[in-house]
Amino acid sequence: MTNSTLFTPITLRNLTIRNRVWVPPMCMYSALGKDGVPTEFHRAHYGAFALGGAGLVIVEATGVSPEARISFHDLGIWNEAQVEAFKPITAFLKANGVVPGIQLAHAGRKASTSPGWGYGGADETIAVEDGGWQTVSASATAHEGYAPAVALTEEGIAQVVADFVAAARRSVEAGFQVLEIHAAHGYLIHQFLSPLSNQRTDDFGGPLKNRARLLLDIVRAVHAEVGEEIVLFVRFSATDWVEGGWNEEETSIVTDWVKDLGVDTVDISTGGLLEGVKIPVGPGYQVPMAHYVKEHAHLPTSAVGMITTPEQANEIITSGRADAVMLGKEHLRDPHFALRAAAKLGVSLDYAPPQYQWAPYSS
Ligand SMILES: Cc1cc2nc3c(=O)[nH]c(=O)nc-3n(C[C@H](O)[C@H](O)[C@H](O)COP(=O)(O)O)c2cc1C
Repeated sequence: MTNSTLFTPITLRNLTIRNRVWVPPMCMYSALGKDGVPTEFHRAHYGAFALGGAGLVIVEATGVSPEARISFHDLGIWNEAQVEAFKPITAFLKANGVVPGIQLAHAGRKASTSPGWGYGGADETIAVEDGGWQTVSASATAHEGYAPAVALTEEGIAQVVADFVAAARRSVEAGFQVLEIHAAHGYLIHQFLSPLSNQRTDDFGGPLKNRARLLLDIVRAVHAEVGEEIVLFVRFSATDWVEGGWNEEETSIVTDWVKDLGVDTVDISTGGLLEGVKIPVGPGYQVPMAHYVKEHAHLPTSAVGMITTPEQANEIITSGRADAVMLGKEHLRDPHFALRAAAKLGVSLDYAPPQYQWAPYSS
């Protein structure tokens, strides 16, 4: 039997996650009508991951309010109909030993776009006169190629915090055990964090503490609302990939701050604020960022980005560069990646679905 750290459990608060192979949030742009309600598609999609051996599945970016969505076809969690539709998804994940998580999101100036399928598919602004909505951001700026946003007032900021709190409460009601605050990929919280998109001169702009204030307010209020039992993640883009932008040093400092406010794990991605920047994409290209944040902030850290093989995933954990790995596109290709990885690494799992025992993987 191989010495596989990938399949060792990890405990966060009172929650034990059975292994370190996790499914990251991935927008499917498949909500019912324009109501943000999960459908049969979502039950089948997340159900496949429930049977596939992963430890944690984080449901895609889910709008905390109608205007928080990237597009009309995003999921939402601002009403009871949405909560009821999430319940069978979380129940099936839990029944199969998988921890259900959800990413709570506000798209800010990258909202009100056409529904697209796939990463980067939703990138054309829908104008207000065509049924879209006025987007908001830290400052009255536009994401390249999108319509300009209006700067949030302090009342508007307080409303965003309240929307995250209500969404967190509803997520717990829906059965989620991990809540991930989306502070990455150029969306609203990242727009506040980065000096490239935040030109405010009030308490929410300027020095790092001010740019981080929206995130800190959200984390503090969400933690107070959901209590000690619920595990909190923050997803950061650790760098804007340009000189003078948000970077891994600031990410580490803010990770330290959110740790003190109750965050249990940071999920380290990169980019999304700027178009056309040079990103050294390649296998595991974001792992060094996760490692940097883990070393500096001493909080469990998850790595993501072009991790595709069992050996690569296992090595990232064994070398101590991250505490968990998230595999996105590889899970879309193969929802049973974890089962396959265990066989490849010579690990026998007691949670492989018995219904599938006739189809063992060859190691
Ligand atoms: C179809 C698709 C949708 C995505 N949607 C989200 C999302 O909702 N929230 C998020 O933080 N990242 C999202 N991502 C990024 C993934 O979570 C992940 O970070 C990225 O795909 C890199 O990992 P990979 O190379 O293993 O796919 C999405 C990626 C894909 C492919």
